Amino acid sequence: MSVSLAGRRIVVSAGPTYEDIDPVRFIGNRSSGKMGFAVAAAAARRGAQVMLIAGPVHLPTPEGVQRIDVRSAQQMRDAVFAQLPADAYIGAAAVADYRPRTPLSGKLKKTGETLALELVRTPDILAELGTHALRPRRLVGFAAETDDIAHYARGKLVRKRLDLIAANRVGQPGSGFESDENALVVYAHDGEQALGPAPKTELADGLLDLVFPD
Ligand code: CTP
Repeated sequence: MSVSLAGRRIVVSAGPTYEDIDPVRFIGNRSSGKMGFAVAAAAARRGAQVMLIAGPVHLPTPEGVQRIDVRSAQQMRDAVFAQLPADAYIGAAAVADYRPRTPLSGKLKKTGETLALELVRTPDILAELGTHALRPRRLVGFAAETDDIAHYARGKLVRKRLDLIAANRVGQPGSGFESDENALVVYAHDGEQALGPAPKTELADGLLDLVFPD
């Protein structure tokens, strides 16, 4: 029997962010948003009040979930912080780490044989929440890694002051961004637990059991 989440307020981020280069081009990534949408849906099924902050994705809003659509990392950050206080933040979004320094108002024309774009860091939503006065009591990150999963995931758990981080291997068939299935290893400060391989809807419930053990 899953624990009821009635009375809990949960903020979930999902999908990629798009960082504009000019009016027709952007820097994005391959996140489909499916994992975050599955987590939002599962939390709502258990009675939580769920706010889903979605990057640009093509997914219907799950039943019982409130949704705000955003585009850039900065917009996602502002939308998440506007939802505080909350009992939990589950950061399933693949937030861009860098954006073009100055998005152009007109279309960039081709000139030379090479082109250098200057990129600057975006706000790290999770890390900022980790030290914020209104830090949600449960702070959960995701880590998509190609190698050395445990090492990098545990590093982010500590650096961003998270309670849990759900790590998965990307770049292999049947797991990661575009797939309906995934396998996660969820790291806590005092242990770890493997979930799946399983459909993302099932993993979402397994993850919520770890986020809210009672
Ligand atoms: N994240 C965030 N804000 C950012 C970047 C990432 O909140 N600007 C969150 C993501 O939602 C995810 C977690 O941080 O839950 C891991 O993101 P990742 O980009 O892999 O972490 P980084 O610390 O940026 O590490 P890397 O060097 O692998 O990019």
